[in-house]
Amino acid sequence: MFEEKITRWCKAPAPIGRSHFIKHFLAGFGAAVILSACDSTSNTSSSSSNGNSQQTATAGKTIKVATDGTFPPFVFKGTGNEIVGFDIDVIKAVAKVAGMTIEFQTMPFDGMIPALQANTVDAAVAAMTITPERAQTISFSRPYFKAGLAIAVRQDNATITNLDSLKGKKIAAQIGTTGAKKARSISGAEVREFDSAPLTLQELANGNVDAAIHDAPAIQEAIKTGNIKSIKVVGELVTEEYYGFALPKNSPNLNAINTALTKIISDGTYAQIYKKWFASEPVKLPESVPGSS
Ligand code: ARG
Repeated sequence: MFEEKITRWCKAPAPIGRSHFIKHFLAGFGAAVILSACDSTSNTSSSSSNGNSQQTATAGKTIKVATDGTFPPFVFKGTGNEIVGFDIDVIKAVAKVAGMTIEFQTMPFDGMIPALQANTVDAAVAAMTITPERAQTISFSRPYFKAGLAIAVRQDNATITNLDSLKGKKIAAQIGTTGAKKARSISGAEVREFDSAPLTLQELANGNVDAAIHDAPAIQEAIKTGNIKSIKVVGELVTEEYYGFALPKNSPNLNAINTALTKIISDGTYAQIYKKWFASEPVKLPESVPGSS
């Protein structure tokens, strides 16, 4: 069913090319040019096992994957209204190697960890940062993307330049995100939390807050696509973060997903997907988040 929708979307004109704004700001992210809306990874969400023991354990298995459609370029709605993005291509390539079929289920980002804890979904794929706090209640795959938080302000703001200058300010952030947590740690700050990245950044553009803290590539994408006007990113990245696929604590699928992810990283499939979305070579990913054990 999902495959059918993807195919239809692929027949539509490819989305607008993505320019190189990110490159100017973030080493490692590079530009995000969609070379083609369709490649070998975009229309396959399942395949049969190819014999590896890890894969045979999951062969033919359907996994329910939570995602949301509001976080471009990682997970967002395509022209046919289905969910597309870098994360979606990566998890589909992983599923193909692991012999799994994916059934996507959309939900708000802040509902994903509770859904994993309740075991109503088998995974969440949503640019979710691997944090020690989250890892207490859910399991993460090895990292599949290096990111970080950035500060956004309106274009005419010359006074906010770093975390220090955010003290006592009004800050917008997305509910349940690492950005919201960071914002709340700033002394005297008044934090306003929203359901999605676009709503958060729009609040800033509307002049209702002084700044927003969010994942740098998501802010840059909003600026570049013109979806949010008159905002800019200031200062250095505030954090270094890694995205991981989230699974229920000690999920039986964790090994197969990690094995498949390692395989697509080593055989070039991951690099191909990365180049499709970011038009640059991927940064080398660690096998686990640096500093964690
Ligand atoms: N990386 C951040 C976090 O994990 C924000 C993720 C937001 N993702 C989304 N699909 N809306 O907290």
